Amino acid sequence: MSELILVTGGAGFIGSHTCVALVAAGYTPVILDNLGNSDVRVLRRLATITGKTIEFIEGDVRDRALLDRLFREHAIAAVMHFAGLKAVGDSVADPLHYYDNNVNGTLVLAAAMRAAGVKTLIFSSSATVYGEPESSPIPESAPCRPESPYGHSKRMVEQMLADLHVAQPDWRIALLRYFNPVGAHQSGLIGEHPQGKPNNLMPYVCQVAVGLRDRLAVHGGDYPTPDGTGVRDYVHVMDLAEGHVAALSHAALAPGLVTVNLGTGQGASVLDVVKAFELASGQPIAYDIGPRRAGDVPAYWGDPSLAHSTLRWKARRGLQQMCEDSWRWQKSNPKGYGN
Ligand code: NAD
Ligand code: UD1
Repeated sequence: MSELILVTGGAGFIGSHTCVALVAAGYTPVILDNLGNSDVRVLRRLATITGKTIEFIEGDVRDRALLDRLFREHAIAAVMHFAGLKAVGDSVADPLHYYDNNVNGTLVLAAAMRAAGVKTLIFSSSATVYGEPESSPIPESAPCRPESPYGHSKRMVEQMLADLHVAQPDWRIALLRYFNPVGAHQSGLIGEHPQGKPNNLMPYVCQVAVGLRDRLAVHGGDYPTPDGTGVRDYVHVMDLAEGHVAALSHAALAPGLVTVNLGTGQGASVLDVVKAFELASGQPIAYDIGPRRAGDVPAYWGDPSLAHSTLRWKARRGLQQMCEDSWRWQKSNPKGYGN
């Protein structure tokens, strides 16, 4: 029988793509999401892609009574916990809101799991926990020095779950540190649609290409990188989604806790992304090189070798495909799920 996997935040960008990968691998996802940063119309798109109606529960991970009921009424085998807030700037402006959603949200969820006897948890962490690294590629053993309330909230949850695992070693926990997730499902039916002006590079480039914004501001052209612009480890969201399925299979082998980077191991500069996107879209991307953005690190990318050796997972999709899939989604859904 197909195992039920609770996907918190499953209506969001990475969670929705992971639901596709879960169905493809033979699991049955159940989504819990408060729709705070997502659109319920994603569900119909998921049904088109997967051929299955995915059960959706609208609610908040901090609602303990709701979680207790959910675990009572569903034989959940494992939880993938995506629900959380992710905007660094907002976390600086309203840290308590971030600690409540991200730290308290996970605390309430883990306590409800313990009460229900569900002991497998895959957690969305972030490479932001490393802060400014000494060198790249960054291994998981690098020191963690997060620089924002958002980064601290991810690191606190990692610590909380590590402590839980010491106390209850029969839990199966994966802490997945994502690098820069971009791209979209190749159908062009689901993707990322940030509200308002995008902070992140790929959504901004997409909006310039589709005519919603005039020009990209490149944040800094004088970094000590090959072309002077910032370098990051962009990873295709479907690769990430498959990384979650790999983490679930690994957790099924034995109790334990793993902390694993999910990235490609390769850096790409802002101008590499612009060029690849121009090729993918056939559109010129107008840009100006402006000042550096406060708080930005010049360059970093991950060491993905542990994901390969433990999870048997490797990113398969390159920068060109990330841009092609982002473009397919953007051009057919310039206004997101409302079209
Ligand atoms: P997203 O905002 O698209 O998805 C998060 C989903 O969680 C949204 O659908 C939102 O409505 C829901 N949600 C938020 N708080 C909730 C709550 N308290 N209860 C129920 N639902 C809630 O973001 P995403 O890009 O898909 O990110 C998913 C996870 O991965 C987040 O935890 C994020 O911090 C982490 N992450 C994201 C990135 C990235 O660049 N996208 C990088 C590293 C880590
Ligand atoms: C940011 C977050 C990080 C989060 C990640 C998610 C900060 C400081 N960090 O990382 O916590 O996990 O998003 O993907 O906010 N750029 C431009 N012009 C733009 C936007 C970005 O030149 O309009 C450049 C940036 O300077 C950087 C690169 O593009 O060099 C990538 O930026 P972005 O997509 O925002 O990701 P990060 O800064 O790596």
